[in-house]
Amino acid sequence: MIPDPPDPNPLRDAQDRRLPQIAGPCGMVIFGVTGDLSRKKLMPAIYDLANRGLLPPGFSLVGFARRDWAHQDFAKIVHDAVKEYSRTDYREEVWKQLAKGFRFVPGDFSDDVAFAQLRDTIEDLDRERGTAGNHAFYLSIPPRFFPNVIGQLKEHGLAEDRPGAWRRVVVEKPFGHDLKSAQDLNNIVSQVFPPEAVFRIDHYLGKETVQNILALRFANQLFEPVWNANYVDHVQITMAEDIGIGGRAGYYDGIGAARDVIQNHLVQLMALTAMEEPTSFDAQSLRTEKQKVLRSVQLPDDLELDTSRGQYAAGWAGGEKVKGFLDEEDIPKSSTTETFAAIKLEIDTRRWAGVPFYLRHGKRLGRRVTEVAVIFKRAPHLPFTRTATEELGQNALVIRVQPDEGVTLRFGSKVPSTAMEIRDVNMDFAYGGAFVESSPEAYERLILDVLLGEPPLFPQHEEVELSWRILDPILEHWAQRGKPEPYPSGTWGPASADEMLARDGRVWRRP
Ligand SMILES: NC(=O)c1ccc[n+]([C@@H]2O[C@H](COP(=O)([O-])OP(=O)(O)OC[C@H]3O[C@@H](n4cnc5c(N)ncnc54)[C@H](OP(=O)(O)O)[C@@H]3O)[C@@H](O)[C@H]2O)c1
Repeated sequence: MIPDPPDPNPLRDAQDRRLPQIAGPCGMVIFGVTGDLSRKKLMPAIYDLANRGLLPPGFSLVGFARRDWAHQDFAKIVHDAVKEYSRTDYREEVWKQLAKGFRFVPGDFSDDVAFAQLRDTIEDLDRERGTAGNHAFYLSIPPRFFPNVIGQLKEHGLAEDRPGAWRRVVVEKPFGHDLKSAQDLNNIVSQVFPPEAVFRIDHYLGKETVQNILALRFANQLFEPVWNANYVDHVQITMAEDIGIGGRAGYYDGIGAARDVIQNHLVQLMALTAMEEPTSFDAQSLRTEKQKVLRSVQLPDDLELDTSRGQYAAGWAGGEKVKGFLDEEDIPKSSTTETFAAIKLEIDTRRWAGVPFYLRHGKRLGRRVTEVAVIFKRAPHLPFTRTATEELGQNALVIRVQPDEGVTLRFGSKVPSTAMEIRDVNMDFAYGGAFVESSPEAYERLILDVLLGEPPLFPQHEEVELSWRILDPILEHWAQRGKPEPYPSGTWGPASADEMLARDGRVWRRP
């Protein structure tokens, strides 16, 4: 075995890895601070980190938005968001300490004066609060503004590292609309920030249950020997939502289910489920293994039969009548945007040859659930009468990503009686039952990792590009097919999705 190169940071090994790391002196600037994401996720996550003692005492948060606010008005907005959405208890002393570092810069993205003021504000913070020149710029804004803001950061000298200090940029999905636009976006970002300073958020990777896929697979002896084409029949990766598009018509129309969820979250879940064991859990080793999976993906020969897309029609959700997608506010009646997408992919490697990976996502489905279900082949021989195993299904290992986080193992068991009768039962691990600590929100973990400069949970540009290479031919095929197939709200999607699996002799799980 080749010995590891000397660790440039020998203190790392001296640290107790059970203790969370605390970010060094730094600050964060949020663009789009009046938006939905900032209010519901980013501001509460920053408070939760402060409450857990993981932010430096001088941490500073600068809000940038088109509002005529003073610093204290901004602090009030953050306070309300924290009270409503933070995960941990509200503690006045934590809040007061945190709020001392709040600043607000009013301005439009095209406003040079505002960016000059932002630069001055950051320099003041370095002097007043010891943020030491370390600042992360969080672009929580519609993607069409990325070029403006990144250009302004460069123009005003905000993007350059100072000696001994760092500058980082955080980019929210969607990373482009297709391969070409993702490449264009990357060109813009990479002209200003080096690759190690770019943190692309796929918040699924910040979820405990998603990271647990790696723990389950690689910390145990039990699963990996059967994690291959010899034993696995197929894999179903589902993210189902029971809600519709809500007030997000402007974002959603023209994007749709495949771009919004499959291209990023579900492809990442597939990569983690299918990848080989990495040599370590550093960013480079993880990315190498994920990229190998994405490079090995084979599209089905028949995109018409092996994909499905739908659009929710009127129906029921939570016992209430709901309208269809085309009747939602600000959605044109002619919209061909899909709200349901299912695709079948194969991974052309020795481990997975012949094992389909079915990915599906939809809105207004029967239940909110995200899971990875590994469905095993039937036992090669059953030494029982046929009636004894009539109710025996296939063994399955289900990683429940959300809600009700945990892992379920399904297998056959004898029904208590004198006769031999075998039926499926579930063995459950639930986070809530096994651990007293509640899981941090994905954004807590990811924001802390940005401040620590820890990149393993952030997809690199190559992964983004590879996933668009998978999606692009499917999206082009759909674009030529006109309208998606309607499905009633509250059901599990269009008939074509069921037919797609039925042709393979399989059925979708109804979790
Ligand atoms: N919401 C979510 O749950 C979610 C989930 C995953 C990813 N994302 C991504 O996160 C980003 C933000 O999403 P969001 O839902 O928070 O968006 P949003 O609610 O539409 O907010 C957009 C923000 O951008 C600001 N803005 C727009 N044009 C501006 C301009 N010319 N100058 C200055 N500020 C401007 C808006 O400020 P004004 O108030 O001044 O208009 C607002 O603060 C998007 O890239 C989205 O795709 C969102």
